Amino acid sequence: MNVRPAEARDVAFMAAMLVESAYPPWIDPKPTPAEALTYPHSARYLRSWGRAGDLGVIAEDESGAIGAAWCRLLPASEPGYGFVAEDVPEISIAVLAGHRGEGVGKRLLTALIEDSSSHGVRGLSLSVHLLNPVALHIYEQAGFVRVGGTDTLRVMLLTLPSGRLP
Ligand SMILES: CC(C)(COP(=O)(O)OP(=O)(O)OC[C@H]1O[C@@H](n2cnc3c(N)ncnc32)[C@H](O)[C@@H]1OP(=O)(O)O)[C@@H](O)C(=O)NCCC(=O)NCCS
Repeated sequence: MNVRPAEARDVAFMAAMLVESAYPPWIDPKPTPAEALTYPHSARYLRSWGRAGDLGVIAEDESGAIGAAWCRLLPASEPGYGFVAEDVPEISIAVLAGHRGEGVGKRLLTALIEDSSSHGVRGLSLSVHLLNPVALHIYEQAGFVRVGGTDTLRVMLLTLPSGRLP
């Protein structure tokens, strides 16, 4: 398995991963990737990919892409569920169902954190449903801490020491 930077050609795969990350398993039926890119609360994470601040990584094996993680700056006027600040990008991550539990998600998360650090990002945030123990585990293991949320959703932040002061 190889992890590489996301490119424009990966957007269709990332849209499929967006459906997995933004819609929990009990949402049935889930939107199609094309629909997810039209619904504001999910589209904001990926639409017009390639904006300033967008960073992403793709895991692939001989079959092609098997997972993706990316982060994006969102404005306070159109925040994501894991919004912390306008200069803290929010993470999306998902692995193809047939490849989960093989360490792909942890590799992707580590690569995205390293990439963000090298770009001078001061922190990364995310939201995770409390009924998603695998995601909670990999986030806590990576050092994310709870900074907010609700009874069902946790907002988490990882502060990066490499962050440049404004
Ligand atoms: C969340 C997701 C990205 C994780 O990727 P993954 O490749 O399955 O995860 P990994 O194999 O790298 O790591 C899984 C870890 O969770 C642990 N784990 C597995 N089941 C667990 C459980 N029920 N409770 C706690 N930890 C669990 C594993 O032991 C492993 O940790 P370890 O290496 O410390 O032992 C992936 O499962 C996924 O795509 N889920 C659907 C989309 C999603 O939920 N995205 C996140 C939205 S917030």
